Amino acid sequence: MVTLSIIKADTGGFVGHTAVHPDMMAEARREMTRGIESGLLIDGHVASCGDDVSLIMTHTYGPDADLIHSFAWDTFQATTHIAKELGLYGAGQDLLSDAFSGNLRGMGPGYAELEFEERPSDPVICFLADKTEPGAWNLPLYKMFADPFNTAGLVIDQKMHAGFTFEVYDLYEEKRIFFDCPAELYEMLMYIGAPARYVIHSVRSKTLDETAAATSTQRLSLIAGKYVGKDDPVMIVRCQSGLPAVGEVLEPFTFAYGVAGCMRGSHHAPLMPVSSGDAHPSRFDGPPRVVALGFQLHDGKLIGPRDLFADPAFDRAREQANEAMDYFRRHGPFEPHRLPLEDLEYTTMTILTKRLASRWTPMTTELATAGTSRS
Ligand code: 13P
Ligand code: 13P
Ligand code: MG
Ligand code: MG
Ligand code: MG
Ligand code: MG
Repeated sequence: MVTLSIIKADTGGFVGHTAVHPDMMAEARREMTRGIESGLLIDGHVASCGDDVSLIMTHTYGPDADLIHSFAWDTFQATTHIAKELGLYGAGQDLLSDAFSGNLRGMGPGYAELEFEERPSDPVICFLADKTEPGAWNLPLYKMFADPFNTAGLVIDQKMHAGFTFEVYDLYEEKRIFFDCPAELYEMLMYIGAPARYVIHSVRSKTLDETAAATSTQRLSLIAGKYVGKDDPVMIVRCQSGLPAVGEVLEPFTFAYGVAGCMRGSHHAPLMPVSSGDAHPSRFDGPPRVVALGFQLHDGKLIGPRDLFADPAFDRAREQANEAMDYFRRHGPFEPHRLPLEDLEYTTMTILTKRLASRWTPMTTELATAGTSRS
């Protein structure tokens, strides 16, 4: 069995929240090389999207492994050190705890991990997003694994016909449920259509009895109890031979659908699929970006990456994202650009509620006419 882990954190932005400084990337790569040479990792690749560093690693320790998580934690400490030396923005932003204890749960960094028996040829795609939250994967996962208008294999591949089981988390109440699809599609949509709370954690093939996809499902603000940046989630999707083909996995991103995030984590904006070179959200800290790094796994080695959105076929989605961004921006501080009050990551409402409490008076008829010049 091999485990593919993506562990990611924002340990400082260059400039503001737009990118990771090259010196931090170099440091993470040095650590990764050490991890491979020491025999801890089979292979590893360091990538970034916006201001988040992703450690893409293969190993044999399974998910939630102390050794792997502490390796990632130490690496993020090292990149934070550089961010501090250079005075980068929000150095150590996602490291919410001072000391590592066992695994990264509740500590700030996000992670998606999948353990499986490697197939003779095993194509996987690592998706990395910036300026959005884990529920951003709900719509594309639904399309990949449940929508026959997206995924032809659901109709014409015998190994996909039986469908997939979706594991959905309720992030507010820390519960989970499994939906058997297609039978329970409508039930599932009622939940996953509310992605701030309900998030697809994994997807499993009923025919192959194998997990096909896994996402990072942490909600930083729920962990920290206050805004400390968006989660900027990652996702692993395995492809082909009874799972959606690479092209079926990428197809949902031809639509620049709306997600929560962008400026101050408090706005709806379109998700823009981009090449690694364009994964630097600077306009209004957006539009939120997603990159897709394709690998062929071979004896646990990561053959790749291929920068899968570096394809003119996604130009139209990028144009659509720019158009939608203009449309949303013109709403300024109004919904639906600004998130509803309960989902705002930043708010002055608590202070205003106190300060203006005495100035709010009942809306009686008498008061409604007060101020007009009737005597
Ligand atoms: P596989 O059954 O080999 O995955 O073929 C699907 C495919 O690649 C067509 O796009
Ligand atoms: P990050 O989570 O990417 O640091 O974004 C923080 C933010 O508030 C951007 O406006
Ligand atoms: Mg940041
Ligand atoms: Mg970020
Ligand atoms: Mg963040
Ligand atoms: Mg084939």
